[in-house]
Amino acid sequence: MHMSSTQHTFMASHSPRVLSLTRRAFSSSSSLGGVSMIQGASRGIGFEFVRQLLENDDKGHVIATCRNPSASTGLIHLKDKFRDRLRIMPLDLTVESSIEASALSIKETYGRLNLLINASGILSIPDVLHPETTLNKVEKSSLMLAYETNAVGPILVIKHMWPLLKIGGGHGTERSAAVVASLSARVGSIGDNHLGGWHSYRASKAALNQLSKTVSVEFGRKKDPIVCILLHPGTVDTDLSKPFQKNVPPEKLFSKEFSVQKLLSIINNVNSHDNGKFFAWDGQEIPW
Ligand SMILES: NC(=O)c1ccc[n+]([C@@H]2O[C@H](COP(=O)([O-])OP(=O)(O)OC[C@H]3O[C@@H](n4cnc5c(N)ncnc54)[C@H](OP(=O)(O)O)[C@@H]3O)[C@@H](O)[C@H]2O)c1
Repeated sequence: MHMSSTQHTFMASHSPRVLSLTRRAFSSSSSLGGVSMIQGASRGIGFEFVRQLLENDDKGHVIATCRNPSASTGLIHLKDKFRDRLRIMPLDLTVESSIEASALSIKETYGRLNLLINASGILSIPDVLHPETTLNKVEKSSLMLAYETNAVGPILVIKHMWPLLKIGGGHGTERSAAVVASLSARVGSIGDNHLGGWHSYRASKAALNQLSKTVSVEFGRKKDPIVCILLHPGTVDTDLSKPFQKNVPPEKLFSKEFSVQKLLSIINNVNSHDNGKFFAWDGQEIPW
C-alpha cells in the first residue's frame, strides 16, 4: 500500500537512529516515592505515568494536572482508589495564571516537588491543526499554536515549579536529585530530520529541546541538584498517534504501559551527568 508522506515521516522519524548507546542497567522499580507532578495527565502517556507512579509505589504522592479535571474519567477512577495520594488540579498550559495557581497550591500542601513530568503535547486537532506535508500548507496559526502548547507552556511550568524542585521533604523520596522530564519527540531533532514535513510540530519540539537544554545549563550551576531531561516515548498507541498508525508495524507501536515503564526506568536512574540530555525510550541518546 502506498504510504502518504505524513505517514512515512511518522514511521521514519521514529526509527532507531541514535547518536550513542547508553549501556546502563536500568532499575525496574517504577517509582521512588516523594511528590511527583504530572502535567498533561488527563489521558494518553501522562495518564499512564500517574497510574504507574501510584500503582507501583505505596508511599509517593502524585499531583495530576489537566485542563478539565471533571472530563478525565481515568483520573476520577484513580482518585477513588488513591484518595490520599492523588491530587488533581486544573492547569491549562496556555493560561499562565493556572500554572501559577498550581505552584502556589503545591507549595501550600506539599512544600516541594521531587519530580516534574511535562507530558502534554499536540500534533493534530480536527479543523484546527494539521501536520503539514509541504511548505504550501504551513500556516501562521498552526506554527503559533504548536509553539505555544508544545514549547512555551512546558517551559513556563518549569519556571513556576522551579522554586519547589528539591530533594527530600518527608514524603519518602529516595531520589538523589529532583528531576524534570519533558516529553519531546524524535522528530524534534534537527540532526535526525531527513524527511521533512510536520513543520509546526517538529519546530515546536525543537524549541522545547533548546529551551530545556538552556534551563539545564542554569540548573547545573545551582546548589540544589536538579536534572532536566527530554524524552522520546517511541510511537505509542494514544489519541495523538491514532491518525498516523496505519503503516506503523505492530512491533513498533508501543502500548502506553510499555513506553511509560521504559521512561520511568530512565527517570529513576538519571544522575547529574544526564542533566540536559535527550533520551529515547530505550535509554539511547538522540542527536539535537
Ligand atoms: N504518542 C506518540 O506516539 C508520541 C510520539 C512522540 C512524542 N509524543 C509526545 O508525548 C507527549 C504525550 O503524547 P500522548 O500520545 O499522550 O498524547 P495525547 O494522548 O493526545 O494526550 C495529550 C495530552 O496533552 C494535553 N494537552 C493538550 N493541550 C493542553 C493544554 N493547552 N494544557 C494542558 N494540557 C494540554 C491533553 O489534555 P486534554 O485532554 O485536555 O486535551 C492530553 O492530556 C506529547 O508531548 C507528544 O508530543 C507522543
